[in-house]
Amino acid sequence: MAFRNVTTSDRGAVRTLTVNRPDKLNALNRETIGELTLAFRQAAQDDAVRVVVLAGAGDKAFVAGADISEMTAWSPTRAQAASRAGQELMLTIERLGKPVLAKIQGYALGGGMELAMACHLRVASDRAKFGQPEIGLGLIPGFGGTQRLTRLAGRGAALELCLLGHQIDAARAERLGVVTRVVPADELDATVDGMADQLAAAAPLALKGILDAVIEGAECAIDQGLAFETQGFAIAFSTDDMREGTGAFLERRKPSFKGS
Ligand code: HXC
Repeated sequence: MAFRNVTTSDRGAVRTLTVNRPDKLNALNRETIGELTLAFRQAAQDDAVRVVVLAGAGDKAFVAGADISEMTAWSPTRAQAASRAGQELMLTIERLGKPVLAKIQGYALGGGMELAMACHLRVASDRAKFGQPEIGLGLIPGFGGTQRLTRLAGRGAALELCLLGHQIDAARAERLGVVTRVVPADELDATVDGMADQLAAAAPLALKGILDAVIEGAECAIDQGLAFETQGFAIAFSTDDMREGTGAFLERRKPSFKGS
């Protein structure tokens, strides 16, 4: 399906989704939220897709937030629906069952930082800037930022960034756990491609087991988290890929994982 604000491209088993509104710094309007949600659901259902890269078009912004021009006329009820729709997108990404990498080359502000934080791996250019500037608009984050930033960076940093609304650079974002890796701008594409290729070649059901155990486990008591881990570990033993991986190790060759 063709989208207006999201472009889709495949390279082997790597699907890249690009938010494509560069003249608005890829701001997330309602249509874009809907298109991204659909695009991620399609990627989840397509067995040929093993990893998703999420990017923003142009060199200035990953995503500069929710589209402020749409907000001015919102009633509280409309705002509630918009917040829920954005949160649903973030949950779709987080629970995709396949790894999602955010490639962040510029501004990741407000809803853009929230979008990045829903991704499993976040690779940033050293020129990227992060922030939750909603307070300056008389708002609060609405796409999960108060929750994911707190989980990633802790309560102190979450309160600092949300209350003061200032931007931070990529190095600080990395120290806080908001990004997983920072690279020079001219190495961003190659770094993300390399990580995506590695993930695309890995055993998909084992990747899913890790994602489920880490993400669901982070939200519950350790006993239940450990049960998620045991479940994923046991499921791996029902797969051809587990036999391929262990067999290849013993035969001193590279494994070839099929996803079954
Ligand atoms: C709508 C946006 C936008 C946004 C940028 N633009 N961000 N439009 N919503 N979030 C548009 C500008 O209006 C402008 O359009 C064009 O993109 C280029 O932006 P400039 O401001 O001219 O660029 P620059 O001076 O370089 O400044 C870059 C910037 C600034 C610092 C990133 O654009 C900025 O502060 N943007 C807003 C960031 C923000 O507050 N984000 C949080 C939004 S609230 P024209 O047509 O004039 O050229 C949010 C809440 C989520 O995300 C939850 C909702 C439920």
